[in-house]
Amino acid sequence: TTVDLDDADYQLGSYANFMHKEIWEQPESVRRTLLGRLDERFGTARLGGINLDARALRAIRRVKFFGCGSAYYAGQLGANLVEEWARLPADAEPASELRYRNPVVEEDTLYVAISQSGETADTLAAVQELKRKGGQVIGMVNTVGSAIARECGSGTFLHAGPEVSVASTKAYTNMGVCFAMLALALGRVRDLSVSDGARIVAGLDSLPSLIVEVLGAENEISAVAKEHSGAERMFFIGRTRGWPVAREGAQKLKEISYVHAEAYQAGELKHGPLALIEPAMPSVVIVPDDELLAKNIGTIEQIKARGGPVIAVTNADLPDGLADSVIQVPRSEPELDPILFTIPLQVFAYHLAHHLGRDIDKPRNLAKSVTVE
Ligand code: G6P
Repeated sequence: TTVDLDDADYQLGSYANFMHKEIWEQPESVRRTLLGRLDERFGTARLGGINLDARALRAIRRVKFFGCGSAYYAGQLGANLVEEWARLPADAEPASELRYRNPVVEEDTLYVAISQSGETADTLAAVQELKRKGGQVIGMVNTVGSAIARECGSGTFLHAGPEVSVASTKAYTNMGVCFAMLALALGRVRDLSVSDGARIVAGLDSLPSLIVEVLGAENEISAVAKEHSGAERMFFIGRTRGWPVAREGAQKLKEISYVHAEAYQAGELKHGPLALIEPAMPSVVIVPDDELLAKNIGTIEQIKARGGPVIAVTNADLPDGLADSVIQVPRSEPELDPILFTIPLQVFAYHLAHHLGRDIDKPRNLAKSVTVE
């Protein structure tokens, strides 16, 4: 394939850089990946390219997601959704580990290779190793005609459109949306009810307008980022649904701002990292309004009690003064929170890096696609 550089995807237009443009493209790119794939009547999703009929979907006993960087973090979000809706054991692993550790390959496991570029060497090698052992591999890839898409043979294209900025934004979000559709399809051939399915379909359908709402708060998020731009390190804290959000949030900040960011599961804080909490160490805490709300409020209190500043990312009405800064997120279906909550963290990292004068689209030492091992 040849790339037409006059194509609108490669023009900045009124945007300062590609990351900003790609963040703002998300309502449209999510709409594009949902197009024609949702089935309102049966409350399910159809991913034609994976070539698995109802029987084949039912025969799957386990799902393993793998990829590198943001694709791997997105895989964790996907694994959570598969467990939640299909009640199948599922997990995510970095492709660079999977390919070298002589994995046990089972016939009834569905392996899901994840890649924006479709060219990442470690992910491609993992696909080849799994296939060589007889594993059933599908691809969730953005770039049509790429090496990983061809090697997988079947799968789903992410339809995010070309992503130019090194730090992934719209491709990451579309990974989450595609995994939600896969998990929904796996759930609906099992015990996920038609009404739950319909609720999820409606939730997916409303994501683009909720993303517009998130982006509408850009100025507020930018102000929070500016306020904390003097920090040399930050924690990103989440649990269960908030865990992949924390990881991807930390990843974005590291990549483009060079601020050291570490993601931690909330319950693990007390087993070591609390020792690092002090006024110069802000924590971004992911607080969805779900059954773990009280636990997450407790986490904020633990951090505050040790003098650590807290930035809460939440769709709950938190008590006044609990957190130092609040990034408010609109409500969606609770299971879809991880998709939506990541977007304000993209905006947060973007503005923090912008404030520090970083080269946002081309961070030092990083490449958009890593085709070497
Ligand atoms: C590089 C990029 C990351 C990306 C990762 C995987 O490290 O800098 O942004 O998440 O590769 O890339 P892929 O194209 O396979 O999704």
